[in-house]
Amino acid sequence: MTGRPLPRCADEELGFGTVITDHMLKIEWNVERGWNHPMILPSGPVGLHPFAHVFHYAVECYEGMKAYVDNNGSVRLFRPEMNMQRFRVSAKRMSLPDFDGEQLLKCIETLVDIDKDWIPKQRGYSMYLRPVIFSTTPWLGLTQCAEAMILVLCCPVGPYFKSGFVPIKLSVDSKYIRAWPGGTGNVKSGGNYGPTVISQAAATANGASQSLFVYDKHEYVTEAGTMNIFFLIRNEQGVKQLITPSLKDGTILPGVTRQSVIELSQQWNECETVEKMIPFAEIKAAFERGDVLEIFGTGTAAVIQPINGIVYEGKEYKPVVPFDDSMLQVRLTNFLIGVQYGDIDHPWSHVVPP
Ligand code: COI
Repeated sequence: MTGRPLPRCADEELGFGTVITDHMLKIEWNVERGWNHPMILPSGPVGLHPFAHVFHYAVECYEGMKAYVDNNGSVRLFRPEMNMQRFRVSAKRMSLPDFDGEQLLKCIETLVDIDKDWIPKQRGYSMYLRPVIFSTTPWLGLTQCAEAMILVLCCPVGPYFKSGFVPIKLSVDSKYIRAWPGGTGNVKSGGNYGPTVISQAAATANGASQSLFVYDKHEYVTEAGTMNIFFLIRNEQGVKQLITPSLKDGTILPGVTRQSVIELSQQWNECETVEKMIPFAEIKAAFERGDVLEIFGTGTAAVIQPINGIVYEGKEYKPVVPFDDSMLQVRLTNFLIGVQYGDIDHPWSHVVPP
């Protein structure tokens, strides 16, 4: 079970999300019988009825986690209990059945241990874990879920962006709205992601690689492509602040990396850490004063992604200082990577029992 089959490519050639490991976890649910026994199976197709709700009504949600190998060969996860908690919140919002997060984490640990030889060892590479739950209910009527399935898939990955840890550009998209109050922006449902693909073409046309999503006449900043977003600014009073959109209006995904950056920034206390509604005009004014010091995105896939420009109404706005290694975002990244790969002993790093 532990021998690695022929590698499909060298780790350095890994992009994001193309290689699947040997095994997957599958757990089926039925309204009458509840959850069935978890099964670890060879990765492969799952047969579903063509009426399955997930195909027609997008009744699904997912998680993103990563497994790392430390210098002693132990396998580590990063704050996995937060993923399990968010997965349950997302499932509830999507009217999918509840499950025991601790039990699911144990199943994931078993899967990761079986496929651990697939985990790339180099810094910047890891094994992405994709838990997904969806309604397999085989009726065309839009009804409560009667049948569902959880899959957990494993995928050795390199950097999410081909450029790696090199700043990217964003373009403000005022046309397509990613999320709005009362919607599902704060849960990890595929329905929040698929409809944003169209916006990437507009971003590319503006010379950017991702869109910065805003909503409402105030153009409140929400997310950057698939990531949460942070700005290090000096406010109008000259106070240095790390600001990020608040979770209060329900449009923002409560990212695990987002939360970790907030906690680290509060502990390091180099600036104020502020979660609030951010009208884009506030960022534009800060750009115009020369008060935007840093911008970065956070996410499980991307970890921290430097951003060095935002295109808005045909004009590019740039942080006042060029990207360099002394920046807060670089130090945050180094710390997070240190914890994730077990170089820094920290309670956020979870060792998978062999
Ligand atoms: C993640 O960062 O884990 C995500 O789920 C984003 C996805 C588009 C890869």
